[in-house]
Amino acid sequence: MIKAVKGTKDLLPEDLFKWHFVEEKFREVTRSYGYNELRTPIFENTGVFSRSIGEETDIVNKEMYTFKDKGDESITLRPEMTAALVRACVEHNLTREHSLLRLWYFGPFFRYERPQKGRQRQFHQFGVECLGSSLASADAEVIMLADRLIKSLGLNQYKLLLNTLGTDETRAVYRKALIEYLESVQDKLSGDSKRRMLTNPLRVLDSKEKNDIEAVAKAPIILDFLDAESKEHFENVKQILDKFSINYEVNPFIVRGLDYYNHTIFEFRSDSLGSQDSFGGGGRYDKLFEQIGGSATPAVGFAMGVERLLIMLEALNSAEIKSYDTDIYVITYGESEYIYGLEVAEMLRAKGYSVLNDVKQRKFKTQFKEADKYQARFTVIIGEEEMANREVTLKNMATGEQNKISLDELANYKF
Ligand code: HAM
Repeated sequence: MIKAVKGTKDLLPEDLFKWHFVEEKFREVTRSYGYNELRTPIFENTGVFSRSIGEETDIVNKEMYTFKDKGDESITLRPEMTAALVRACVEHNLTREHSLLRLWYFGPFFRYERPQKGRQRQFHQFGVECLGSSLASADAEVIMLADRLIKSLGLNQYKLLLNTLGTDETRAVYRKALIEYLESVQDKLSGDSKRRMLTNPLRVLDSKEKNDIEAVAKAPIILDFLDAESKEHFENVKQILDKFSINYEVNPFIVRGLDYYNHTIFEFRSDSLGSQDSFGGGGRYDKLFEQIGGSATPAVGFAMGVERLLIMLEALNSAEIKSYDTDIYVITYGESEYIYGLEVAEMLRAKGYSVLNDVKQRKFKTQFKEADKYQARFTVIIGEEEMANREVTLKNMATGEQNKISLDELANYKF
């Protein structure tokens, strides 16, 4: 039998109740901060990602689904949204027309990683990007939005880790000091970290290898290298978060896996996730627009992994997540009664109720069982007599009370 590709998952109706719950929260929270949705194609010209995420990152190096299409163009299934969104904003002049632009997105992304709990090859992200402000107020806004979203899902076992990568100048000086330090402990580093030491030394700081963790424990930290501008920006972000009681922990070992960041970076982590404990992350990326061919536009945003949020929700077993309610189940017996029942159902649907007919036209008893299965709040029962008098028998399934009422009365009934 042909199965779904390794690292991909089907989402069955029972899973999707939870997805819809989460998606509805995204919409609510983003609306409350004035963000609008943007959708881009699932694949892009490879350069959109390879140029912006960084040639030396794992994403570009090992994880992209890149192929030549029949016209010999190099195409990549999007591994993340930020670069694609910036490409779309530049292409459509959006950031020229709006000096401040707030956007959100949701959809599938693709990375060729080793599948495990919370890690798939096709996964879903929800994210927001605030484009056009270089101020710490924008960083604080997206972090507060993320925090509100997580809390609105009923989740509270998580940590927000905050760090800064400062300005280009700060990073250049720090990078030099870090390489010097790493060279002094290179015998203790893992093979991967030894290789990264020169190409992408900051990545060594967030290695999960025990040897590396021990070796970098005494490494110089970027917080000691911040120039005045970097320091001021970071202080301003923290001040707003403090004022609004957003809990965070400054952690100089957070570096993120994408190269486009400067200044603020952050990650949301939860112990309930096992080894893939980071369920969201983001930061400021003031140089990306220029890299993609647009004019300089300061920007900041984050993305969350929907699968990981759902694992956290499972642990919580939220009572709010339930299947849709059926308002009314129409029970009929006989062909012409079925058609009359359909007329009744269509009239009720037009009023906005959720109504089921038995398209299998089974026995009365089976239909009652079905009404229970779908947790219908009411049943409308139609036999020969009801049809002849253009009436129905309406039964309240919670109280068991039932009455014959005319179609007019039914039309005005408040279910
Ligand atoms: P990222 O940290 O690479 O950031 O991904 C964000 C989130 O996507 C992760 O925290 C994780 O929850 C989820 N994720 C990533 N890879 C997988 C996977 N293989 N399986 C399941 N979930 C996964 C970005 O993508 C940036 N674009 C975020 C951003 C937006 N920065 C600024 N704006």
